[in-house]
Amino acid sequence: MKIGVLTGGGDAPGLNAAIRAVTRHALLAGDTVVGVRNGWAGMLGEGDTLELGRREVAGILPLGGTILGTSSKVNPVTLDGGEDQVMSAIRRLRLDALVAIGGDGTLSIASHFATLGAPLTAIGKTIDNDLSVTEYCIGFDSAVTIVAEALDRLHTTATAHHRVMVLEVMGRDTGWLAAIGGLAGGADMVVIPEVPTTVDDLLDHLRARRAAGSDFSLVVVAEGASIHGLRLSRAGDPPDANGHRATPRMALRGVGERLAAVIESSSGVETRATVLGHTQRGGTPSAFDRIWATRVGVAAHQFAADGQFGSMPVVRDGTIATAPIADVARKHRLPPDWYDLAKVFF
Ligand code: F6P
Repeated sequence: MKIGVLTGGGDAPGLNAAIRAVTRHALLAGDTVVGVRNGWAGMLGEGDTLELGRREVAGILPLGGTILGTSSKVNPVTLDGGEDQVMSAIRRLRLDALVAIGGDGTLSIASHFATLGAPLTAIGKTIDNDLSVTEYCIGFDSAVTIVAEALDRLHTTATAHHRVMVLEVMGRDTGWLAAIGGLAGGADMVVIPEVPTTVDDLLDHLRARRAAGSDFSLVVVAEGASIHGLRLSRAGDPPDANGHRATPRMALRGVGERLAAVIESSSGVETRATVLGHTQRGGTPSAFDRIWATRVGVAAHQFAADGQFGSMPVVRDGTIATAPIADVARKHRLPPDWYDLAKVFF
């Protein structure tokens, strides 16, 4: 068999571990693997690929990013003539299977081509952890660790200066990263899109903390949080190629800076904001991400070998299960029990 692999959408630690796993398992089976450069863009025109052998994937397990490159800017389904270009590239490259590694946008595109009869399977990857059906998305644990480490650092400076520190984290329009990163880092308050709040409620909570004797606070706010009474900059640019509204510009809403300014001006307490931004996407994958990227990568090749197209390996009950790609691509917001757990520590 000849297997294609592409990485689409935002990068995440663990992508290279998944590429390595697909490749090494395929080589064991005597299959050939080609990497598709820059996500779905590499499946347009003549195709932009490179053969992946042991040498090409040697040493990439701990490497962040993706050796194939990625893009959030190209959606062949909405691009004029894109659908035909991808289908003909699959034929021209003589691909027996294509493994699409990505988040909701990439998976939605993969599902579309699978319904057209293309030999697609997929792997769920996003630091947002906002894919459905699967219990885990590659990259999330590494990003949670980055958030927790940032909170550990902010904790010492907050206590030294008796300040409120606001940490804005990614997550697009869900609160997984903010709530679980906040839990891991000991946040005193977490603000997430799933639980709209108001400026007054936030100020009241901080006031109550001070009255109870806490002379500093750590506030984690998700970039997509909705806080009534907080004037934000623009709602965001038009949708990107994967149909994400305001996604690349979500950070420009400036929720962290705006919230810090309101807290300081309303409470008189010195307040500072930190925006973690793309540091949450960078660097080496955690051991947890390396392991799950390896497990689902090997499984994805097995799905390809077994001709299980339109489906993908997912994490369920601590092991690998199967699910339709279309089902996994649906948005999964943070379940209330996680937020309730975080609230115990507000
Ligand atoms: O989906 C991953 C993610 O990092 C989101 O959390 C964030 O809103 C978005 O990508 C940023 O997109 P870009 O890298 O295009 O700025």
